[in-house]
Amino acid sequence: MIKLGIIGTGGIAQLFVDAAQKSDYFKLTTVYSRHEETGQAFLKENNVSGDIYTDLERFFAEGDFSAVYIASPNSLHFAQAKAAILADKDVIVEKPFVINPTQWQLLYDLHQKHPDYLIFEAARHFHEEAFKAVSETLPSLGKIQGANLTYMKYSSKYDSYLDGKKPNIFTSKFAGGALQDLGVYMIYDAIAWFGKPKEACYHARMLPSGVDKMGTILLTYPDFDVTIHIGKTSNSYLPSEIYGGQETIVMDNAADLHEVKLVGPKAEMVIAKRSAAENPLLQEAQAFGKVLETRDQKARQVAEKWLETSRLVNETLYALRQDSGIVFDDEK
Ligand SMILES: NC(=O)c1ccc[n+]([C@@H]2O[C@H](COP(=O)([O-])OP(=O)(O)OC[C@H]3O[C@@H](n4cnc5c(N)ncnc54)[C@H](OP(=O)(O)O)[C@@H]3O)[C@@H](O)[C@H]2O)c1
Repeated sequence: MIKLGIIGTGGIAQLFVDAAQKSDYFKLTTVYSRHEETGQAFLKENNVSGDIYTDLERFFAEGDFSAVYIASPNSLHFAQAKAAILADKDVIVEKPFVINPTQWQLLYDLHQKHPDYLIFEAARHFHEEAFKAVSETLPSLGKIQGANLTYMKYSSKYDSYLDGKKPNIFTSKFAGGALQDLGVYMIYDAIAWFGKPKEACYHARMLPSGVDKMGTILLTYPDFDVTIHIGKTSNSYLPSEIYGGQETIVMDNAADLHEVKLVGPKAEMVIAKRSAAENPLLQEAQAFGKVLETRDQKARQVAEKWLETSRLVNETLYALRQDSGIVFDDEK
């Protein structure tokens, strides 16, 4: 069993710990929280007796764990992942890995100096069977004509923002906004399925807090375009589509794939299905657990390939931010 430490005790950490323990690879042993009581409540909720640290240095120096899952606000990922690598831990960083290519390269260079340990970006849908089913079906479409991908979900924290509070995900201080949140999934889609675009443009609609609430992305490839709609202040029920000639791949939600179909003029076929009851982080927890437990050359090559996708995603997200003029507090 891989002993797991976690940073951050929000809803996603709860979901990941549940997935990690269900995967049978991980056992939660250690929690870092800014407050003892929050750490206690987290352990209780997960029915685990473990250690709690409220000091990050002590967490890394004394904590009894070999892998850490970082589920803190986006702008904290870089410093916390850096501390984790320096402490010789395997690291799972929630998406977005870090906020710009400079941070990405610094982490990667540091990781290279600690080659026994592994580092992953937790882009959950990228590790799902349904995601792979899309990749495997793409060649049957022939020449790709384009794609329309949509992910718009009214944030559970938007009402609080409207009430004048400052939820992290709607602040520039914590590198929030629609692109850094829901946009990450869509850019993973584009990079994994079509490669790095020639050009990346983002028409962002901004909030007074300095982050984007929604927007339209245009990714240009040599022979086709990919249009992406993202938003955190409205709900969309549109499916996403990838166009071949006669045939189209139709996804119920390109960031949360429950049903993927190949649809033609005369017939349609379901190519992947995921139960709504399954923990959405289970398949990534299984993927990371398998690599961490195996640790052989083949497993390391798999992790390296995932990192290469993470790098291209990070570069593309940054290009989109530059195009729309979104600058985070840490970058000013
Ligand atoms: N994969 C997915 O499906 C998914 C879904 C949601 C979010 N995420 C990612 O998960 C990460 C966390 O998202 P979230 O919505 O859970 O964020 P959040 O609620 O803003 O914060 C997460 C946790 O970080 C700690 N924290 C909050 N504010 C902090 C501050 N000012 N300084 C230091 N620590 C702070 C808190 O834990 P303590 O109080 O215990 O310190 C909090 O529970 C983000 O990177 C996000 O993109 C992924």
